[in-house]
Amino acid sequence: MSAYDVVVIGGGPGGYNAAIKAGQQGMKVACIEGRETLGGTCLNVGCMPSKALLHASELYEAAAGKEFATLGIQVEPKLDLAQMMKQKADSVAALTKGIEFLFRKNKVEWVKGWGRIAGAGKVVVTAADGSEQTLEARNIVIATGSEPTPLPGVTIDNKRILDSTGALSLPEVPKHLVVIGAGVIGLELGSVWRRLGAQVTVVEYLGRICPGLDDEAGKTLQRSLTKQGMSFKLSSKVTGAKTSKTGVELSIEPAAGGLAETVKADYVLVAIGRRPYTAGLGLETVGLATDSRGMLANDRHQASAAGIWVIGDVTSGAMLAHKAEDEGIVCIERIAGQAAEVNYNLIPSVIYTRPEVATVGKSEEQLKAEGRPYKVGKFPFTANSRAKINHETEGFVKVLADERTDEILGVHMVGPSVSEMIGEYCVAMEFSASAEDIALTCHPHPTRSEALRQAAMDVHDAAMQA
Ligand code: FAD
Ligand code: NAI
Repeated sequence: MSAYDVVVIGGGPGGYNAAIKAGQQGMKVACIEGRETLGGTCLNVGCMPSKALLHASELYEAAAGKEFATLGIQVEPKLDLAQMMKQKADSVAALTKGIEFLFRKNKVEWVKGWGRIAGAGKVVVTAADGSEQTLEARNIVIATGSEPTPLPGVTIDNKRILDSTGALSLPEVPKHLVVIGAGVIGLELGSVWRRLGAQVTVVEYLGRICPGLDDEAGKTLQRSLTKQGMSFKLSSKVTGAKTSKTGVELSIEPAAGGLAETVKADYVLVAIGRRPYTAGLGLETVGLATDSRGMLANDRHQASAAGIWVIGDVTSGAMLAHKAEDEGIVCIERIAGQAAEVNYNLIPSVIYTRPEVATVGKSEEQLKAEGRPYKVGKFPFTANSRAKINHETEGFVKVLADERTDEILGVHMVGPSVSEMIGEYCVAMEFSASAEDIALTCHPHPTRSEALRQAAMDVHDAAMQA
């Protein structure tokens, strides 16, 4: 059997994009995936099913709460959770089939089973029936993704104590859901179940939600989620869990130590982060090792062993699907001998709560730490006509620009549909735009996107007043 140019291990956004790109470049390529379906965490149990439930639950709440009534629409919605889950599963199935189609179209061979590196240029694949085959590869791309970080003493059984996968498929609406970790998963999935009727308590070790997020954006989001009925126990740690058939009793203490309290919940979601997944990958056979966080290091996507590349959640950087995708494509271009780079400063990040949060580039905290002088322009959605008409006025757009050159360095938004608007700033920043470039660009009226322009205008107005 002739060797493959590229064997990709893992069929998630990193792996499937790398494999398709390799096929498009005319390389002989195989992608090994152990799951029954392609698409990885993102399509099967991550981005896509969570967004399906966020969309459906948002509409349900709008209909069930005051929002429709305010608009003069009187309805009495009834929750059909089984149908909500079915439409989610149907969409996911269609998306994963879509990747199969793209594989066929681009001549990518899907090798079903779990891959294990067995020395330089060799990958052994174990199929579900236990049979093994060995693939020979000039290049191996490791794209094995990540898994939930476990919390000692709070063992995930996906019956009462859930990880994100369990929380995406509950058979009933919890009465009381305790979420451990006020990060992206906790706030998105906590929002889903709160909208559907659960009481939701979020326990966070640190004194703030979403560490790493612009401080002001984090505070605005927390205020809004609290108003919606989510409660937060910050600076708190869960020290133990007792599970019964009907629920869980959690012991919670102040993070700094002190008196423990007992909190009862019928379901608990553990969402304290994710860690790289390399179990059984045979890294030792090529002299590779992970660091103390389980991370595989890379130098422009190359591992420290010849012919081995590493992309996506399993390596350094944000654990985001679009970052994994970009790395997959760039990695193949580098294998093909082309010059290619991922611009890590321009990986946007979104929290799909309501209001949404979208950010790109540096935060104020980062710029202060770097000692880089910057100007701030801000515009609240309360002053945006489209947001006002739609009764969606929470949040703001904040633009950070270099004090001397006016180059846009970071953008932080909380508000309606900001996930769809951050791309404008990504493009602008890719072209090293100044805040003035955005301020001088005509935007359609009435749209929320006018807030993007107004915030850029404010960079100058604020600087003039200072
Ligand atoms: P993965 O998608 O994890 O894919 C790795 C694949 O490799 C898996 O299918 C696994 O089965 C397979 N595999 C592992 N080891 C082997 C082996 N030895 N042999 C064969 N196959 C193997 N990101 C966003 O950008 N936007 C979002 O809205 C978003 N929402 C999310 C919601 C949730 C609930 C979760 C959990 C994550 C979310 N993410 C989101 C993160 C996103 O899913 C990941 O960043 C992305 O999937 C990483 O892609 P990847 O290709 O590196 O790994
Ligand atoms: P996260 O890193 O976003 O948040 C974890 C939170 O748990 C942090 O606030 C952390 O301080 C807290 N924490 C850690 N240990 C704790 C403990 N013992 N007790 C209480 N709190 C503790 O991780 P999360 O939410 O699990 O998501 C994992 C990753 O998945 C994200 O980092 C993101 O990369 C990706 N993701 C992206 C989404 C998006 O782009 N919209 C949606 C969902 C996930």
